[in-house]
This record gives sequence, structure tokens and C-alpha cells, in this order.
Amino acid sequence: MIIAVDGPSGSGKSSTARGVATRLGLRFLDTGATYRAVTWSAVEHGLDLDDTAAVAQRARDLRLEVSTDPAHQFVIADGTDVTAAIREPRISEVVSKIATNLDVRKELVRRQREIIDDAQPTGGIVVEGRDIATVVATDAELKVLLTADQDARMARRGAQVSSLTAEQLRDQIVRRDADDSTVSEFQVASDGAVTIDSTHLTLEEVIDVISKLAKEAETVP
Ligand code: DC
Repeated sequence: MIIAVDGPSGSGKSSTARGVATRLGLRFLDTGATYRAVTWSAVEHGLDLDDTAAVAQRARDLRLEVSTDPAHQFVIADGTDVTAAIREPRISEVVSKIATNLDVRKELVRRQREIIDDAQPTGGIVVEGRDIATVVATDAELKVLLTADQDARMARRGAQVSSLTAEQLRDQIVRRDADDSTVSEFQVASDGAVTIDSTHLTLEEVIDVISKLAKEAETVP
């Protein structure tokens, strides 16, 4: 079983997808973490992030281990635990440069599919990202596009990064949306995708809805 959860930053897709995996006893893959890990490595190697060939080579050379245990998430890049480092602002600020590098995407989609395949004998996986239903796992049994209006996304981001002013937060959300929208397969409602607007729902409510849909999808041959 594969459950794809796509959505923009601040839509709550990470907490939601992890919650669904925990509830249903499935594995969980945060694909954004793979883009962040390549970014971390390119920065550590002092690469020019506009040198797309060098960055793509770094993505291919990187030894990457991403945990799929929803209760214990970690990322190890070339032997270093980068779980916390990949969330630092210095990485968040430049990650879309790496995520719009098409050769990096090709390599990371390949690795993500391997991780998804490895999880199948254990019952399945909830995969969270931007292009899961449209590119990475087009055969997912359940495809969810999670949305939320800009104010709700700002509030959620604000709760995560309390040091920013409202103005900085709005800038960040608007800029991230613009950067991310340059990759064409992102967040379009793919065939059979269910769109859930989480603006007025609690995290638990969204997890409930998706878990119910997953159980229904499982029983449909
Ligand atoms: O969800 P996140 O903020 O951790 O994602 C980090 C970056 O990676 C962001 O620029 C979007 C990008 N991303 C992507 O291009 N494709 C994915 N499947 C997941 C994330």
C-alpha cells in the first residue's frame, strides 16, 4: 500500500503524513528531507549551487540513509547525522535551488522509489512531498493533495519558527511557493487525487479523514 500526500509548505503535510503512518502501522517517507540532505552536502562541499552538473554529481555520490520509522526520524548523509542540520535556515533558504535541478530530481526520485519498494513487504508506506502522486508513485492506492489558505499556513509555520515576524513569515511562504512552483509536476491534482483543505481542521481531524480513505482504498480491489 502506498499513500501519497502532496502539498505546499505549511499545509501540515509532514505531521499529517507521519500521523497517518503511525495510526495505520505503516512506514513513512519525508521526501523533502532527501532534497535537504543533498543541499546540506553541496553546502558542506562548498559547491556553487548554480553549478547544476556539480550539484547533480554530489546527489549521485552521496551516501544517504533516511529513516522510514514514523516514531524515529533521522537522516544520515555520508556517515554524518544531519537530522537537525537539514532544518537550519541556511539550508531552507537555498533548498529550492537544489530541488529545481532536474538531474538531482531524477536521482532522488530513483532513490525514493527504492525506499518505497523496500517498505512494501512491511505493509506499506505514507510518502510525503510535492510530486509523489504525479511522479514518484503514480500507482499509489490513495493520493491526497493537502491544502490550506495562506494565513493558516503562516500560523503553522509561525508556531514552528517563533523568531520570525509576521512579515518575514509571509515573505517566506510567498517566496517558497513561487520557488516551488517552477517545477511543473508540483501539486497539481493528479488522476484520482482527493483534495483536503485543512484550513479549518485540526491535525487529528485530517489524520482521521485520510485514515478512513486509506481503509476504503484497501478494500477496493
Ligand atoms: O517539504 P520541505 O520543506 O522539507 O521540502 C524541502 C524542499 O524540497 C522544498 O523546496 C520543496 C522540495 N521538495 C521537492 O521538490 N519535491 C519533493 N517531493 C519534496 C520536497
